[in-house]
Amino acid sequence: MNLPDPADGLTLRRWRDDDTAALMAAAGDPALHRWTSLRVEHPDEAAAWLAAQHEGWATGTRCSFAVVDDQDALLGHVALKRPGAPAVEAEVGYWTAAYARGRGVAPRAVRILTGWTFATFPHLRRLRLLHQSDNTASCRVALKSGYAYEQTLKAQHPYPREGHVHVHPR
Ligand SMILES: CC(C)(COP(=O)(O)OP(=O)(O)OC[C@H]1O[C@@H](n2cnc3c(N)ncnc32)[C@H](O)[C@@H]1OP(=O)(O)O)[C@@H](O)C(=O)NCCC(=O)NCCS
Repeated sequence: MNLPDPADGLTLRRWRDDDTAALMAAAGDPALHRWTSLRVEHPDEAAAWLAAQHEGWATGTRCSFAVVDDQDALLGHVALKRPGAPAVEAEVGYWTAAYARGRGVAPRAVRILTGWTFATFPHLRRLRLLHQSDNTASCRVALKSGYAYEQTLKAQHPYPREGHVHVHPR
C-alpha cells in the first residue's frame, strides 16, 4: 500500500526487509536516541525492528510507514499506534532522518497519515501525539500538522520530562 502526496511526491509505504541499510544509516543519529525509543545499531536490531513493524500490521496494533521520496530514498517514519476498536483515540509518532530535516517532511507525512487514518478507521474520534516539552521541533510538527496543544503531562517513567499532548479531531 502506498499513500502518495500528489502535491510533492512524498510517499508513505510499508517498511520492507530491504530497508535495513537505510534504517541503520538513519538510526545512528543522536537526535533519534535523544527524542525517540529507536535503538538500531546492528543488522540484527534492524531486522528485529522491521519484524516488529510487520507484526504491528499483522495484529492491527501498529500501522507504520517509511516516508520516501520519488526515488524511494528514505526520508523518515510515521506510525499510527493502537488504532483498533473499541478505542476512540489513537496515537501518532514520527521521525525524520537527519539529512532530510527542515524541509517539512514530518508535517506533510503526518497530514497524509492523519487523513488515511480517519478514512480507514471510522470508529476513531481523534488522534493524539505526545512530545517532550523541550522538543520544540516536534511541537512545531504537531502544530503544522493540525494537532492543537491540549495539555501538559507530568514527567513519569519512562519519560524524564513533562510532555505536551496535542490532538487532532476527526
Ligand atoms: C521533530 C522532527 C520529526 C521534525 O521533522 P522535519 O521533517 O524536519 O520537520 P520540519 O521541516 O517541519 O521542521 C520542524 C522544526 O524543526 C526545526 N528545524 C528546521 N530545520 C531543521 C534542521 N535542519 N535540523 C533540525 N531541526 C530543524 C525547526 O524548529 C522547524 O520548525 P519551523 O518550521 O517552525 O522552523 C525531526 O527534527 C526529528 O526527527 N527529530 C528527532 C526525532 C523526534 O523528535 N521525533 C518526534 C518525537 S515526539
